[in-house]
Amino acid sequence: MASDADPSKWNCPAHTKAKHEMLRRYLDGWYPILSKWNGRILFLDGFAGRGRYNDGSEGSPLIALRRLVEHRFFPQMAHREFLFYFVEANRDNAAALQHEINQLKVELAPWPATVKAHVLNEKFDVTANAIISRLREQKQTLAPTFAFVDPFGYSGMPLELLAGLLDYPRSEVFVNFMVGHVMRFIERDGQEAAMRGLFGMDVRDVLDGWDGRRDRVEHLRSVYGRQLQTRAGFDHVQSFAMINATGNVGYYLFHGTRHRVGVQRMKAAMWAVDPGGGFTFSDRLAGEDVLFALEPDLSPLRQELLRYYAGQKRIAVEDIEWYTLLHTPYRETHVRPVLRQLESDGCIVVNRPPGKRQFADGVTISFP
Ligand SMILES: C[S@@+](CC[C@H](N)C(=O)[O-])C[C@H]1O[C@@H](n2cnc3c(N)ncnc32)[C@H](O)[C@@H]1O
Repeated sequence: MASDADPSKWNCPAHTKAKHEMLRRYLDGWYPILSKWNGRILFLDGFAGRGRYNDGSEGSPLIALRRLVEHRFFPQMAHREFLFYFVEANRDNAAALQHEINQLKVELAPWPATVKAHVLNEKFDVTANAIISRLREQKQTLAPTFAFVDPFGYSGMPLELLAGLLDYPRSEVFVNFMVGHVMRFIERDGQEAAMRGLFGMDVRDVLDGWDGRRDRVEHLRSVYGRQLQTRAGFDHVQSFAMINATGNVGYYLFHGTRHRVGVQRMKAAMWAVDPGGGFTFSDRLAGEDVLFALEPDLSPLRQELLRYYAGQKRIAVEDIEWYTLLHTPYRETHVRPVLRQLESDGCIVVNRPPGKRQFADGVTISFP
C-alpha cells in the first residue's frame, strides 16, 4: 500500500478544491465572529497533510493561516491569540508541512506574533487525548475550537474522542466522513474496532434499520450525522456530498456546531460551492461549461413556508429567515424573494408599519 507521503496521494482533484473552497469561505466568517468575544482561538487540523499538492494548490493548513493573516479585518483581530495545531502522523508529510509554513511566514512577513502555528508529528488520537487530559487536570475548558478532521480513510478518528475534545459550547467540527471506504469495509473481518470507533456504536447497530433496499450510502450518512448530534452534542449538523469521477459519493463533509450563526455561515459556504442547492459537488461536472447559471428552485421553500406558518399572524421576517435556515435546506437569503412572490400572488398579507419598505425590520407577515 502507498505510504501517506507517496506523491500519487497528493493530486488535487476538483472535489478537493471544492472542499478547500468551503473551508476558506467558512473561516472567513468564523475568525471575526469568534475574535469578537474570545481572547484565544484554536484551529486544530487533525490530519493536516503536506501543506501543498502536486499542482501547487495549498492544503488546509496554509489555507487556514493565509485566510487569517490576509483577512481584511485582521487588524481588528490582531490583539487576539490564534493557536494552530497541525497534527500529521507521517514524518515526511510533517516535515514538508513545516517547510511550507516557514515559507508562508517569509512571504507574509512580518508574521504576527499573535498567530502561532505548531506542526505536531503525532497521531490525531494521541494529540486529542493529551489535550483532553491536560484540560481535565487543569480543570480548564478548551478555547473556542474549529477542528478539521480530514483523513484518507476512516480510522484514527473515534467519535467518542471528537465528543470529548469538542464538548465545549463554542467548538465546532468539520469532518470528512469517507462513506465510500466505510461502505466497502463495514462488514469485513478485522474492521469491527475501527467501525465501532468511527460511529461510536457496534456495526450491528449501525446497520440496524437499513432494510437492504434503501440506499446504503444514505443510511450511513444519516447514522453518522445522528451520532454527531446525539453523542457529540452538536445541535446543528449539516452534510455535503462529494461525488467522484465514477459517479458515486466518495465522502461527505459534515459540519457540527452548537450555534445557529455557524449554520448560517456554513450554509453560505455550501451554497457557494453548489449554487443549485443540492449540497453536492461532482467531479464529473467540474470544469464543464454550464450553459445556464444554476438558479435554485425556490418552490419547495414556498410550499414549506405556506404549510408551516398556515393560519399564523404577524410573524417577523427575521423569524421566518431563522426557521428557513435551521429547518430547511435553504438559506435565509432565499426568504425575501419567496415572500415577494407570495405577496404579489396575493397569498400572504404583509403588515408594513408606516415608513417601512419591502421587508424591513418591523414588517410582519400573516399567512392564510
Ligand atoms: C487527506 S490528507 C489531509 C489533507 C489536508 N487536510 C488538506 O486538506 O490539505 C490526510 C493526512 O493525514 C495523515 N494521517 C494519516 N493517519 C493519521 C493519524 N492517525 N493522525 C494524524 N495524521 C494522519 C496522512 O499522512 C495525510 O497526510
